Amino acid sequence: MAEAGREDPTGWFERLYAQASRGAATVPWDRGVPSVLLVEWAEREQVDGAGRTAIVVGAGYGRDSEFVAGLGFRTTAFDISPTAVRDTRERFPDTTVDYVAANLLDLPPTWLGGFDLVVEDMTVQSLPESLRSEATRAVASLVAPNGTLVVVAAARDEDQHVDGPPWPLTPSQVEAFAAGGLERLDVERIPDAVDPEVHRWLGLFTRHTSPASAEGVGG
Ligand SMILES: C[S@@+](CC[C@H](N)C(=O)[O-])C[C@H]1O[C@@H](n2cnc3c(N)ncnc32)[C@H](O)[C@@H]1O
Repeated sequence: MAEAGREDPTGWFERLYAQASRGAATVPWDRGVPSVLLVEWAEREQVDGAGRTAIVVGAGYGRDSEFVAGLGFRTTAFDISPTAVRDTRERFPDTTVDYVAANLLDLPPTWLGGFDLVVEDMTVQSLPESLRSEATRAVASLVAPNGTLVVVAAARDEDQHVDGPPWPLTPSQVEAFAAGGLERLDVERIPDAVDPEVHRWLGLFTRHTSPASAEGVGG
């Protein structure tokens, strides 16, 4: 997997999901429950998605998108792997989420600036660093005026070398989501509850249209 991730940065995901679909592999990030950091943020902010739109980037098997839809958002979720999209629809036959196969690096133009909530959980870190700034800007481009971007990612120090995938985000790489008109609201580096050696980022960004209209997605 590691070698494939370096040599074929996006193609190996479909091969992995196709193998998993045949029972010939397991997908390491198939956890079945939403990100704890995403859930805690939504509870803290009392997020109410009624009448608002959300998109989940690199949605995998839909753990975060089903949670986001449960908050009331009209939710789109996309992944580069058509097999992941198909198998996720099968997992949630009654879902309200619109699961779509799409490439973060070649987004449908109609999505740009179109979502009140954008959730990015571990997709950018799964792409090699040569694609990092392009992927980061693409995530930011989805946020609507007054919308909120939530970034969850593994963290590493600025000078720490890793042989990915994944390639956890450095402080400057998480701060870089404040791109293309987005502003940083908060970036926290949070130790894992079980293994304090492991840290994660929770990054919050918004696209203010004017100081008077800035409100985010909280209730
Ligand atoms: C580490 S997994 C995380 C999945 C999910 N976000 C989660 O937390 O369970 C990264 C996901 O991003 C998807 N992905 C990778 N590159 C992508 C791209 N360029 N466009 C859309 N999805 C992509 C992969 O297929 C995979 O499902």
